[in-house]
Amino acid sequence: MPASNHVSTAKLLLTLHLINILVITEVSSSSCQCIGYEPLIVNVQTSQFTASGSHVDVDIQPWCSKSNMLGWHGDYFGVCDKLIYGVWIEVDFLENQMLAGIVTWGRATKGLYWPRYDQFVTSFHLEFLVDKSTEWTNVTENGTTVIFTASTNRHEAILNAFSEILLARKVRLYPFTCSGRPTLRWEFIGYSKYSIPFVKQRFAPPGLALCGLDPRKCFRWNRIPVRVQWSGFRTRKNETRLSLRGRSIACDRRHVTVGMEKNCTQCAANEIRYDLCAIEGTSENGQCQVLCRLRESQVGQPINLMLMVNGDEDTELCAIDSDASLTIGTPGRTLIHDWPSFLEKIRDMY
Ligand SMILES: *[C@@H]1O[C@H](CO)[C@@H](O)[C@H](O)[C@H]1NC(C)=O
Ligand SMILES: *[C@@H]1O[C@H](CO)[C@@H](O)[C@H](O)[C@H]1NC(C)=O
Ligand SMILES: *[C@@H]1O[C@H](CO)[C@@H](O)[C@H](O)[C@H]1NC(C)=O
Ligand SMILES: *[C@@H]1O[C@H](CO)[C@@H](O)[C@H](O)[C@H]1NC(C)=O
Repeated sequence: MPASNHVSTAKLLLTLHLINILVITEVSSSSCQCIGYEPLIVNVQTSQFTASGSHVDVDIQPWCSKSNMLGWHGDYFGVCDKLIYGVWIEVDFLENQMLAGIVTWGRATKGLYWPRYDQFVTSFHLEFLVDKSTEWTNVTENGTTVIFTASTNRHEAILNAFSEILLARKVRLYPFTCSGRPTLRWEFIGYSKYSIPFVKQRFAPPGLALCGLDPRKCFRWNRIPVRVQWSGFRTRKNETRLSLRGRSIACDRRHVTVGMEKNCTQCAANEIRYDLCAIEGTSENGQCQVLCRLRESQVGQPINLMLMVNGDEDTELCAIDSDASLTIGTPGRTLIHDWPSFLEKIRDMY
């Protein structure tokens, strides 16, 4: 988590003056830089699983849905020749988690008489609940419920990477179609390490992050420039391109300032100096492009970025995208050939 150290921006503020203006900012999920992922289901307790029902056998109960167990068998005894309704399994993470994708398998190829049970879920949809909310919401894309395409056999790991971070405390999986019986194992890929750009604003709620902490709310600021501090940003490359998304952002040096904190050994205590990034202008898709060239000593190291956007009453800053934000894969369905080495690969990445 980023430190909340106080950073003086006096130098950057020289040519900017504060104007009392309402700035409405939408929160977008893409601003967090995830630098490590972990599987979540495998570590939750038995009591955190619930389901609409299950087969009576003790080894195919909801908590058997972990990837290293047999699978959960929904209380459904049709032979998967029609669409399934009202069958679900739920996990409660006990607090909000940022989720990057879901992995599903069919019934494990082990246990007594295992060759008899060729069972898997071929498609499903997801509903989620944000902590302290009572309203279940479907995972949607372009306004329609996403029907995830899952398994075509019982043993392969199928990843469905989300197109946006899913922030949720509870998630329910509803099998929609199946083969044999609706039996599945599942796993969520969660953010384990990340850096988040924080808005520094006198009148903004403290600790407000430009990150999907509540995907359905817009935040308001009543002062510009919008000041953002991004601590712990990391990249393995010697330059990084940031794209500022928003509205009415004049993409020039007079209105947009991005500085990288210098590792300054000769500086006085409390003095912070910045290397400025190049403001490159607005791209075809309307985003303000910023190019930051890192010093050799900064490559692969956590660095602190300070960002300011000045403007007028129409100016909104909605998100900061970075080409250093890696994801677990392109959104959509992928077959994972080697599950343990996939987990190893995504544990620490930036
Ligand atoms: C989610 O979508 C499914 C399928 O379209 C629908 O049956 C269900 O009622 C929706 N749930 C919510 C909470 O809107
Ligand atoms: C949503 O819209 C985008 C852009 O138009 C498109 O690329 C994507 O395939 C759509 N997704 C779905 C599930 O329709
Ligand atoms: C940055 O890295 C690229 C290759 O990754 C290299 O070609 C280039 O010389 C480097 N630039 C500097 C200034 O080190
Ligand atoms: C700052 O620079 C010094 C000397 O160049 C180096 O030893 C030190 O590790 C650097 N610190 C950080 C946080 O990069």
